[in-house]
Amino acid sequence: MAGISHAGIAGCQDLETRLASRPQQVRQPPVQREQPINNVVGFLDAIKRWQLARQGFSSGRKRRVYSENPAIQALEESFTVKFALYATFAMASVVLILKADDYGSAEESLRRAVFGLVLALAAVVMLHATRQAPCRRNSRITLVLGGNLAHLLIVSLILRLTQSTDSPEVLRYLLVPFALAPMLHGVLLGRVVGTFSAICVSLISSLLVPPQDMLGFLTISLVSGLSAVLLTGTVRKRGQLLRAGILTGVVSLIIANLWGRLDLVSCFGSGTMDHLKVFCLGSAAALGTAVFVALFISGLLPVFEELFQLTTDISWLELSDLNHTLLRQMQLEAPGTFHHSLVVASLAEAAAEKIGANALMCRVCAYFHDVGKLKKPAYFIENQQDGAENPHDALTPTMSALIIIAHLKDGVDIAVKHKLNPRIINVIQEHHGDSLVHYFYRRAQEQKKTNLDKVDRGLENPEDLPHVDEKNFRYPGQLPSTRESGIIALADMIESASRSLRKPTLAKIRTMIEELVRSKMTDGQLDDCPLTLRELTVVKDSFAATLRSMLHARIDYPREDDRGPPTPKRSELQRPRPSEGEINSKHLPPQAAASPA
Ligand SMILES: [Fe+2]
Ligand SMILES: [Fe+2]
Repeated sequence: MAGISHAGIAGCQDLETRLASRPQQVRQPPVQREQPINNVVGFLDAIKRWQLARQGFSSGRKRRVYSENPAIQALEESFTVKFALYATFAMASVVLILKADDYGSAEESLRRAVFGLVLALAAVVMLHATRQAPCRRNSRITLVLGGNLAHLLIVSLILRLTQSTDSPEVLRYLLVPFALAPMLHGVLLGRVVGTFSAICVSLISSLLVPPQDMLGFLTISLVSGLSAVLLTGTVRKRGQLLRAGILTGVVSLIIANLWGRLDLVSCFGSGTMDHLKVFCLGSAAALGTAVFVALFISGLLPVFEELFQLTTDISWLELSDLNHTLLRQMQLEAPGTFHHSLVVASLAEAAAEKIGANALMCRVCAYFHDVGKLKKPAYFIENQQDGAENPHDALTPTMSALIIIAHLKDGVDIAVKHKLNPRIINVIQEHHGDSLVHYFYRRAQEQKKTNLDKVDRGLENPEDLPHVDEKNFRYPGQLPSTRESGIIALADMIESASRSLRKPTLAKIRTMIEELVRSKMTDGQLDDCPLTLRELTVVKDSFAATLRSMLHARIDYPREDDRGPPTPKRSELQRPRPSEGEINSKHLPPQAAASPA
């Protein structure tokens, strides 16, 4: 239970007892082979596959797998690279300050450079100390520090240009793209990193202007940067980015007016035309720069996403198009799985929104989570017609489990082939964790019991009995490692179980969700998931509300004359606390195991 916070665990002693008493499942860490050994094993595998193909036992093809290049992974985690990035940023900031126009004595320049170095070092220390996920990988640190450095360089160039060409005084600061780094980082890495960039570039760039303008420049840069971050925090369409750019320009204008750079009041006094001309020039510069920054970021967003392996909400929204080739194929060849995926997407998106996780990512990943079922759709119960022959009837439970489990690897294979987003591939790999295919495991045990009876009666040879090993009935996937992945895993299981609910009521739905989530936790499937207990409670409430609205037509409302027992209290409806016996007997998902969705 490493990833589950125990805050507010009151009333969960039964869960703790079960966790303590459950046999500790030994999870083998992924085998780390050396590269040469990997090559040898791969070569031997290829020979074995070729031999099997020749004998007609194999198609000779190999499933595609998804894994990060070890060299890139090493670079991403290298502390030396990280340190070099920090040092480059600090030194480059100092050089920019020293190269700025001499606004005073050499002593003043040196004082500014030292102050700039302190600010740059404080920024890298903050970046290093932060526990924000976007700042752990070296590529993301390159994006943050590189973006800030580019911002400072552009500010320095514009200041030099406006000073050297004797441009109107009003243009000197209003041509500066205050929103560049904050908006870029806000869209790509989130509000926290965007705010960090806004503060960092505002403080350091204020050392590039004359002392009398320092405070005003700092104010306009900080307010414009923070406004850009605030306005782009929930951007889902490119048009919204442009609107955010225009609003940021307006904010810059207001601050410039308050600071005295622009004087709107003078436009209504003597010399109206001259003042109006200056005001229009300044407004055009501020608005034009802000709009240009928004368009520049919007245009280069796909490049940044590809380069730094990031996915913004804008891209998630584009990926949520149901006309994707795979989704259309699923609609035609596996309609049951397609419907299941849509319901899981709705459940997961609503729950993710409630706890502040990436709701759009949840929706898209849920659409594709069972894409592996496209290889053998008829073997999954949701695609079987009523009364039609069940292909599992002709198979042993072990073989059936193998086919069911294979939809994970088939999913990764299809996803890699269609170049789906790596985060979707992660969800495909993680949505079942290493859980058990209960239905076929139970069937195998029942068959074994029957065969043992036959052995006792001398009808069967004990050596001929098939060996039933639990690990053959477990998914080989990884445990959910993100909040989004955990939510999808839970939504997946709950959607499958909800199909068998007869006469669903709100209380029944809540009890079912409570029991299923508890069984998932007891099995250790959420051990690597950063969801807290508080978030899990919110997620469960959200699932219940969404399912209730989805099953509305099926919900059986008691008639006046049917009302037997008194109406339960509102608190009882919200927090059903079933007994231990009820948890194990009623809603553990036999149908979910039979059709591991
Ligand atoms: Fe599923
Ligand atoms: Fe699945």
